[in-house]
Amino acid sequence: MERNRWLTLAIITCLVLCSDGRELKFKFKHKKHASIYNHTLTNIVVHYASAVYVSDLTELFTWTCSKCDGVTEGFQMIELVVDVQSCLQAFVGVAKDPYAIIIAFRGTQEHSLQNWIEDLYWKQLDINYPGMDDAMVHHGFYYAYHNTTIRSGILNAVKRAKEYYGDINIIVTGHSMGGAIAAFCGLDLVVNGNAQNVQVITFGQPRIGNAVFATYYHRLLRNTIRVTHGHDIVPHLPPYYYFFPQKTYHHFPTEVWLYSVGLEFLSYDVEKICDKTGEDPTCSR
Ligand SMILES: *[C@@H]1O[C@H](CO)[C@@H](O)[C@H](O)[C@H]1NC(C)=O
Ligand SMILES: *[C@@H]1O[C@H](CO)[C@@H](O)[C@H](O)[C@H]1NC(C)=O
Repeated sequence: MERNRWLTLAIITCLVLCSDGRELKFKFKHKKHASIYNHTLTNIVVHYASAVYVSDLTELFTWTCSKCDGVTEGFQMIELVVDVQSCLQAFVGVAKDPYAIIIAFRGTQEHSLQNWIEDLYWKQLDINYPGMDDAMVHHGFYYAYHNTTIRSGILNAVKRAKEYYGDINIIVTGHSMGGAIAAFCGLDLVVNGNAQNVQVITFGQPRIGNAVFATYYHRLLRNTIRVTHGHDIVPHLPPYYYFFPQKTYHHFPTEVWLYSVGLEFLSYDVEKICDKTGEDPTCSR
C-alpha cells in the first residue's frame, strides 16, 4: 500500500516537474573495428539509455513500453529507482543479450537541459574526489549520484541481482547528464563495491573531472566508451582549455564519434573511434 502510494506520487511529481520529451536518435552503420568498441553491443545499450526516459513507470517496470522490445526483449527489471526531490530516474535489470546487469540513468528533460548547459559553462571543478589526491570533480554530477536516494537504490538492486544471477557483468549507461551519473556509478561499483567486470558506455556525456581524475578513472575502468553524436554541445562541456589541461575538465573514455557527411541525398554516416586519451582534437571536439 505504502509503496503504491509512493509510486503514484513519484509518477505524478515526475510528470509535473519534468515533462517527457527526449528521444534518443543514434543511427549506427556497421563498420569493422579491432578495438574494445563493440558496435553491436553499443547499439543494444543505447536502447536502455533511451528507455529510461519513459515517464510511464508501470510500462517501464513491466518492460512493456513502446521502446521495450526488439534487441532488449526479455529484459528482467529488478528495480526502478526514482528520486522525486531531484527528479532523477534510473533502473537496474538483467538483459539476455548481453547477459549482464544493466544500470541506466536518465538525463535531464529538455527544458532543464538548457539550465544544465548554462550551469556547466561556468561550473568550476569544485570538490575533491574522496581518496584521490588532486582529483577534482563537478559537484552537481557527483552529488546527483552520491547525495540522493539514487545510490542506495542502485546498490541494493545490484546486490539483489547478483544474489539471483551470480557475479555477471555490469553495464552502466546513460545519456547527457545521465551519462555523467553513470560514470560516477561505474567508478563507485569498482572502487567501493570491488566489482571486476564493469563497463561504462555513455551517450553525449559531459566532462565530470580534471586530468588527475581522468587518469585515475582510466586506470580503474579501461573499458569505458563515450559515444558522441554530430555536433551535440553537451559532450564539450564544461569546456576544455588546451593550454591548462591540469586545471580544466578532462574526458577519460574512448570517444566514438557518429556524424554524417555529404549532402542530404548523398550522405552517409561515419563512426569514428578516437584515440584513447579521452581528449582528441581531431574528433568531435
Ligand atoms: C559484441 O556484442 C554482442 C552483443 O552482446 C556479442 O554478441 C558479441 O559477441 C560481441 N563481440 C565481441 C567481439 O565481443
Ligand atoms: C548532501 O546531503 C545532506 C543530507 O543528506 C545535506 O545536508 C547536504 O546539504 C547535501 N549536500 C549537497 C552539496 O547537496
